[in-house]
Amino acid sequence: MEKQLDKMKAYARENKIPIILDPTAELLVVILMAVRPRTILEIGTAIGYSAMVMSKALAAGGRIDTIEVNPDMVDKALDYINTAGLSGVIRVIEGEAGDVLPALTEEYDVIFLDAAKSRYIEFLPHCIRLVKRKGLIIADNVLYKDMTRGPEWVKHKQRTAVTKLRGFLEQVENHPQLKTTLINVGDGITISVKF
Ligand SMILES: C[S@@+](CC[C@H](N)C(=O)[O-])C[C@H]1O[C@@H](n2cnc3c(N)ncnc32)[C@H](O)[C@@H]1O
Repeated sequence: MEKQLDKMKAYARENKIPIILDPTAELLVVILMAVRPRTILEIGTAIGYSAMVMSKALAAGGRIDTIEVNPDMVDKALDYINTAGLSGVIRVIEGEAGDVLPALTEEYDVIFLDAAKSRYIEFLPHCIRLVKRKGLIIADNVLYKDMTRGPEWVKHKQRTAVTKLRGFLEQVENHPQLKTTLINVGDGITISVKF
């Protein structure tokens, strides 16, 4: 598995595909090893790197559903997942998360949000609905190169994403059903427990 993860990292680097950074992967694995989830929902598969990283910490018989909108990414992820012999563990759901999430009804122990940053705020109500009580919602890239918690003014190009991320942080930090911490690891990660 480690060799395959190294290959995936090299592929992502060569093809400029953003995957979780090493410190983020380490933090995820430590948290998940403590929790030992049976079920994980990921939003944003890319080539399947983070799904494969998280699979190391699943409880016996556990599984991951992961949503990806880009068909080329889906093909690549399926290749890697099959090669690693994990097709019975990681299920890739091809589709736009905005369409897929409303149709999901099963509850998950952990939800990992790693798709378009400007959409987190829109996906949050579904994450809260779909995560079990005492389950975790983890969101990556919430600091967005420190712009989210930086000065009010941001460049036009990033303004929408930053404004929406600020709204997302405001909601996860103040939602009556969530207790949230923001950790300055990688590009910033929030961990919320639902109670
Ligand atoms: C940061 S990458 C995911 C990286 C992956 N989690 C990893 O670390 O290995 C984000 C991925 O989310 C996908 N994505 C973005 N917005 C999406 C949406 N609304 N629905 C489904 N997938 C989306 C993109 O196509 C991209 O592959």
